[in-house]
Amino acid sequence: MRIIRTANYEEMSVRVAAIIAAQITLKPASKLGLATGSTPLGAYRELVAAHREGALDFSQVSTYNLDEYRGLSGDDPQSYRYFMDEHLFSQVNIDRAQTHVPDGSNLDAAEACASYDRLLEAAGYVDLQLLGIGNNGHIGFNEPDDCFATGTHCVDLTESTIEANSRLFESPDDVPRQAYTMGIQAIMFARRVVVAASGTKKAEAVRAMCEGLVTPSCPASILQLHPDVILIADEEALSLCH
Ligand code: F6R
Repeated sequence: MRIIRTANYEEMSVRVAAIIAAQITLKPASKLGLATGSTPLGAYRELVAAHREGALDFSQVSTYNLDEYRGLSGDDPQSYRYFMDEHLFSQVNIDRAQTHVPDGSNLDAAEACASYDRLLEAAGYVDLQLLGIGNNGHIGFNEPDDCFATGTHCVDLTESTIEANSRLFESPDDVPRQAYTMGIQAIMFARRVVVAASGTKKAEAVRAMCEGLVTPSCPASILQLHPDVILIADEEALSLCH
């Protein structure tokens, strides 16, 4: 795992965006695995700015998001599809038909997950997977568990994740209790993984990911087995690493 240490969130965002931009420049038809949440917002802003300056062409890019709340449709402002449309897709020249997010409006979990797995398999998985990390070490919504879940699946979100995500809702009661998430296998099949982390709240999870046992109780620790991971993290997020 290569580690790029940055002074703060802004520098982390610039570094993450630069790697994604280079990926697109080198391979215009890149398949990108994308994440939502606070962490990638700055990087998405940088990518939008690069596109506006004429430096970045998304016309051949396709994207596959990690996860979506079960029960929310894409026009719900709290959905991850809406988030991606708002912060990235509507602001660059990507073909929206080439942007993929698990279908939260499909309440048939088995069908929704199987069809996302079929899509990922047909795509040959992604060239670059961008990940944030949960305070509890989750990646996507692969929460700490007794085993690594391989395929796309429906998860019951943990109380700590509901609490962490409640900042984006009016109250914790409004946070959906379940989500569809890409499994560990599709994440590990990515040719390259970029993990972004910022802030002291992530420090313990980052330490466990980099230095702890490979264990499903810290799902991100599986990344120790991936041959091409770049962790871009600020001083605070790296503060517990040796
Ligand atoms: C989001 C996702 C999650 C987040 C993680 C960190 O699509 O898959 O794993 O990356 O919960 O969230 P933030 O960035 O909001 O701290």
